[in-house]
Amino acid sequence: MKTLLTSAAITACAFAASAQTVGFSQIGSESGWRAAETTLTRQQAEERGIDLRFSDAQQRQENQIAAIRSFVAQGVDAILLAPVVATGWDSVLEEAQEAEIPVVLLDRRVDSSDDLYLTAVGSDLVHEGSVAGQWLVDNKPEGTCRVVELQGTTGSSPAIDRATGFRNAIEGNADIEIVRSQTGDFTRTGGKEVMESFLQAEAGNEICALYAHNDDMALGAIQAIKEAGMDPGDDILIVSIDAVPDIFQAMADGDANATVELTPNMAGPAFDALEAYWADGTEPEKFIQTESKLYTQSDDPMAEYEARKDLGY
Ligand code: AHR
Repeated sequence: MKTLLTSAAITACAFAASAQTVGFSQIGSESGWRAAETTLTRQQAEERGIDLRFSDAQQRQENQIAAIRSFVAQGVDAILLAPVVATGWDSVLEEAQEAEIPVVLLDRRVDSSDDLYLTAVGSDLVHEGSVAGQWLVDNKPEGTCRVVELQGTTGSSPAIDRATGFRNAIEGNADIEIVRSQTGDFTRTGGKEVMESFLQAEAGNEICALYAHNDDMALGAIQAIKEAGMDPGDDILIVSIDAVPDIFQAMADGDANATVELTPNMAGPAFDALEAYWADGTEPEKFIQTESKLYTQSDDPMAEYEARKDLGY
């Protein structure tokens, strides 16, 4: 959709010939997926001649808010924000808007008005959870299935939406029950520690499946299940989200069952939208959706591992 040029876009057009400067407030490096997103964002910027200013928030919203304020003070041409949590962004987004700096959200969402950002690039996070839940509905063994859930970072949009989607999918299946749910903060160590506590608390009770909001937590949990003398992927079904190389290795080994892909290349569509905006003020749709694909053990996991292993995960 083309609109009349805002003064920000006119300013941007005037500078279109010179290298654009983009500030990127990244959450941190909690998972393999996050590392790949950072790598691909740097690569995309380099390929397009964009000067990328990178800030690692180490999981803290206050660091992200400080980074955005610093980018505004530097007068960057745009800001990429991967928001650690969904709430609390209004003021700083208003500051960027007052400075006429377009903000693009990457992979996670915020609860602010969409007037405060140019666009958001990401997957349908509720759908991802539904795909994982539907896989379990279709593949669980006969009888009651007691599920444990490793949630992502508390208050983050993927943790909220992936929990909702999974519950939507299993609703109406009275024999599937979520018996324990706790955050593992999207990390491998968090997944292992919380799974250990689940196994202890459920000693003597059968756990049919683990649903993890990302692969890294699933991989940590797989370790915990093995150390407890059980067979992940068989005694306990494992379904998670991201499609990082290591989960394909685990699938090839029979230790994991299914994953839902989240592409780490959010920057490609984000820079495409920004370049169009800088060129002539073209306003993108408010949500640019990336694909979510289910992979199982029957999808040649070693080939998927090989295809991804050098992509910066
Ligand atoms: O926001 C996307 C999520 O953040 C990924 O699924 C997870 O691995 C990362 O930490």
